Amino acid sequence: MSSLKHDTVTPYGSTEQKKEQVEQMFDNIAPKYDLLNSILSLRIHKSWRKKCVNKLRSIQPKSLLDVATGTGDFAIACAELQPNHITGIDISEGMMKYGREKLRKLKLDKLITLQSGDAETVDLPDNSYDAIVVGFGVRNFQNLETGLKNLHRILKPGGMLLVLEFSYPEPGLFRSLYEFYSKFITPTVGRMFSKDKRAYSYLTESVKAFPHNEEFVSILEKCGYRNTSYESLTMGIAAMYSGKK
Ligand SMILES: C[S@@+](CC[C@H](N)C(=O)[O-])C[C@H]1O[C@@H](n2cnc3c(N)ncnc32)[C@H](O)[C@@H]1O
Repeated sequence: MSSLKHDTVTPYGSTEQKKEQVEQMFDNIAPKYDLLNSILSLRIHKSWRKKCVNKLRSIQPKSLLDVATGTGDFAIACAELQPNHITGIDISEGMMKYGREKLRKLKLDKLITLQSGDAETVDLPDNSYDAIVVGFGVRNFQNLETGLKNLHRILKPGGMLLVLEFSYPEPGLFRSLYEFYSKFITPTVGRMFSKDKRAYSYLTESVKAFPHNEEFVSILEKCGYRNTSYESLTMGIAAMYSGKK
């Protein structure tokens, strides 16, 4: 496992704050984000989101916040829960532009609205959402704990936070195959399709340095969440984390 601290892994390694670099990177890759997501994950991400939606069924959320919504895929998957409204927030206007187009085509633009917002500072009211989801977003936060604490503040008492994030397979043959794929295939395919030469190398590096499984659960607890749990997905490539307020 990498000895780098996750918050020191940045897209471009420049002097700008991680947040600015992340925003710039997602603005750059936005036009090809959905396509590359499907190619690189072999569409497995759809089944991961489905699992998360099933987990949320137990609390039947009426108000939902999708943090780091990007092009809106997690929010769209959550529409199945028939909430009254879903708000998506993100720091990248470029990503949300594609998300809004998708919502219009799917006629979901009344149910789901996307707005500019940073997980760490967004001033949505205290105790205002039944559920908050974050798909592949927490790894990109500049300050992970600040973000998780702010989301805890926004969540209603009894509400659920659900985080879907890349994890890391256990040592063994599968991990070796995964490392080959993420070190060589992911950056090469990423460079071929997107304009950004660094984005998909950053993906590999940031996944390796990010806390996963029990370590991430203990961060959730430190940030105030209770009834925490995690479930490994597809042999540890990703994990679904949950916690309640
Ligand atoms: C890998 S994309 C995930 C998009 C979407 N959730 C999905 O599952 O496909 C990560 C997104 O996190 C956003 N992001 C990163 N840091 C953020 C923050 N502090 N607050 C809100 N969004 C953030 C990025 O702009 C980007 O759109």
